[in-house]
Amino acid sequence: MPNICVRGGAELRGRVAVSGAKNAVLPILAAALMAQGGTTTLESVPRLVDVLTMIEVLEHLGVRVSWQDDVLEMDSSALTAWEAPYHLVSKMRASVLIMGPLLGRLGRVRVSLPGGCAIGARPLDLHLKGFNLLGAEIIFGHGYIEATARHLVGNTIYLDFPSVGATENIMMAACFAQGLTTIQNAAEEPEIVDLACFINGMGGKVEGAGTDTIAVHGRRPLLGVNYRVIPDRIEAGTYMIAAAITGGDLIVDNVIPEHVISLTAKLREAGVTVHSLNDGVRVIGNGTIEPVDIKTLPYPGFPTDMQPQMMALLTRARGTSMITETVFENRFMHVPELRRMNASIRTDGRSAVVSGVRSLSGAPVTASDLRAGAALILAGLVAEGVTEVRGVGHVERGYVGIVPKLRSVGADIWID
Ligand code: UD1
Repeated sequence: MPNICVRGGAELRGRVAVSGAKNAVLPILAAALMAQGGTTTLESVPRLVDVLTMIEVLEHLGVRVSWQDDVLEMDSSALTAWEAPYHLVSKMRASVLIMGPLLGRLGRVRVSLPGGCAIGARPLDLHLKGFNLLGAEIIFGHGYIEATARHLVGNTIYLDFPSVGATENIMMAACFAQGLTTIQNAAEEPEIVDLACFINGMGGKVEGAGTDTIAVHGRRPLLGVNYRVIPDRIEAGTYMIAAAITGGDLIVDNVIPEHVISLTAKLREAGVTVHSLNDGVRVIGNGTIEPVDIKTLPYPGFPTDMQPQMMALLTRARGTSMITETVFENRFMHVPELRRMNASIRTDGRSAVVSGVRSLSGAPVTASDLRAGAALILAGLVAEGVTEVRGVGHVERGYVGIVPKLRSVGADIWID
């Protein structure tokens, strides 16, 4: 397995463009299963390992898929299976998003239990509670979950936590339920809005996406549609921090500035200049980083998917910052690796105290998950000497061409 190597010290300058959003395209691909006729054409699809895995799941279910550049065409008029097997679900937890569409369309679905993952237990109880309230029966056995329903009926579903995946799965199942489904305390992430727009383009009727109450009017005929996926706000945020940490000046193109407001606010608080442009942001670092406190929260709060990268930035701050992780119970695996690069970080449960240091030192480190890998690359951009990041597979799950993109703006980074 190759490693990503970075020699620190270069200030990043120029323009870098963000790809389509991984976390938007995965549920949209699952939603394409709901089209009972016509072709679905998706534009701005990022060529990522997770997207390829979701396509494998769709093909296993009988969807015909073709892919040219960043445009994907799908025909899901004739489904031939109703089960996502272990070897695919174990590669990617987001494959559970096929549950809602298949339960709705076929009245049954069987999915391998995803198991634990690197950043926490991530149960499915809220997804299943929603299906149950729509009238489905849920059975567990032999490592699989099976949901069946003769017909689904709309209901009011309150989520104990605004889970992104549960909101998406329930929204999709509800498209096939008789009458109105209301999801309360729903997730408000931009990816939820993107999914709702896609479903509405197919002929569905979803209202209120982007607020905490979503109404789904069920049983409307759903057909293939042409749709363009939103830009990836987490990839955008990662390049924004790359500019800030190196004291550089980057224009990050293909960003919806509103999607990165919490990060923009925190970067400004840290003394970084951020300008919102029409279709992007310009980030100018001034060489010093002020300490700031961060608390991860559901959108529009600070995203948990940006917490490791923000921590990398704060290792270089002029003082002490406090980071509180409230979304996942075990998302500090990058801490021991950052410490190996001379960072000073103490953790206590869900909190981390980051005391800024004058310099980081390059070291061999291992990415335990996607965003941890991004954080280590960011730290490597300013560390003295070479940082060798192992676990490139994780990084490739979420970043299209991170090495060439960073090289194009001046980073000394390569794959070895
Ligand atoms: C999605 C994103 C992921 C991001 C996360 C939070 C995708 C493909 N992934 O993951 O990158 O980090 O949102 O913004 O979009 N929970 C339960 N029961 C459930 C479901 C979730 O307790 O049934 C808990 C989880 O354990 C976790 C929290 O809710 O602590 C948030 O999870 P959720 O919002 O569901 O994240 P995902 O949809 O898995």
